[in-house]
Amino acid sequence: MRIAVVPGDGIGVETTAEAMKAVRAVGEVYGRTFDLEVFPWGADHYLQTGVTMPPNGYAMLRDDFDAIFIGALGDPRIPDNRHARDILLGTRFELDLFVNFRPVKLLDERLCPLKNRTAADVNFVVLRENTEGLYVSIGGRFKAGTPDEIAIQEELNTYKGVHRIVKHAFEFAVASGRRSVCMADKSNAMTDGHALWQRVFRELAPQYPSIQPRHLYIDALALLMVQNPAQFDVIVTNNLFGDIITDLGAALQGGLGLAASGNLHPGRTSMFEPVHGSAPPLAGKNVANPMGAILSAGLMLEYLGLKPEAAAIEAAVQEAVSTGNGTKEIGGSLGTRETGDYIVAQIRKPRRAEESVPVVEAPAVVEAPAVQAAPAGQDAPAGTDVPVQEAANTRQDSELER
Ligand code: IPM
Ligand code: MN
Repeated sequence: MRIAVVPGDGIGVETTAEAMKAVRAVGEVYGRTFDLEVFPWGADHYLQTGVTMPPNGYAMLRDDFDAIFIGALGDPRIPDNRHARDILLGTRFELDLFVNFRPVKLLDERLCPLKNRTAADVNFVVLRENTEGLYVSIGGRFKAGTPDEIAIQEELNTYKGVHRIVKHAFEFAVASGRRSVCMADKSNAMTDGHALWQRVFRELAPQYPSIQPRHLYIDALALLMVQNPAQFDVIVTNNLFGDIITDLGAALQGGLGLAASGNLHPGRTSMFEPVHGSAPPLAGKNVANPMGAILSAGLMLEYLGLKPEAAAIEAAVQEAVSTGNGTKEIGGSLGTRETGDYIVAQIRKPRRAEESVPVVEAPAVVEAPAVQAAPAGQDAPAGTDVPVQEAANTRQDSELER
């Protein structure tokens, strides 16, 4: 299998190295060859060559690789983030990776910043629309730098774009045995753009009778994610709101360094990345937590149909977290590299006979995205649920607005 690797900037370089160590180790254990091709795209490359992405870059990623792994992008020397826009956002747009799949899963209760929460209380998935919204760079600045400056940045919502991500959320919920889909928007203030989300959600929800539909305004969702995250199963929202709440989600699971994500277009070459940024002050110090990157590599293998390999990576990270063998972020005393080494050692540990699987070449790309089983007995207090038919401007929701 061919995997394009873009370590990018800052700590992305360090965490990607550990993720690829884990991929190679799992490949050796399961008798699979991963052809990892590293691309130097990032801030240094841009500053040296003036090129963010080569002209054929997107087509090459799409046509020549089974998956893409990307570390992080962002550098203070490039204040307008031009290279991140081309490399990260550009790949999301050009490969039409419309699903940003971000599981929020607490691996150990001691990592949760909330009081008295167990791992079962924090286990949901955010599906963030990834190709539209406020990220499309439609707009501009007029009289920039003067007291009369006007800055306009439009939010794009299309029926097709909203429909496919909301549909994906329901189908993911069904396929992964989850019970509810919560759509979050701001339709009480953004009465045009988000009316489209309302329309689509009401259209689609009745087609999935086994899934409880729910709507929340994004501000209420942020409140409830902190007050009682156990009530959430699958959350679907737009690009910017999804960006913000997945940082909040990362905090609930123990920190940005633990959070994993996939940018997916089911059935096509997709891109996997830890949620953390490039963190320039931490770069080169061997202190960044590589677990989010390693877990993202696990999501990648699962997407590629390599379920036992993905499970082995997840189990190894779980073991490292449970035993405190990691960086400071998880309360450990290891460096980035040593954490990777520890996880690799877990992956290489001889498996019990019943756990081993015959080595069968899996299809290069599967139709369905990575799925995770929902924990048993995870239910929501019903008080704040808003049936989809009366989602907008309900009493229950506006009570949360105070
Ligand atoms: C993320 C990041 C990116 C985003 C940035 C680097 C443009 O924050 O992947 O969450 O906003 O999507
Ligand atoms: Mn983000």
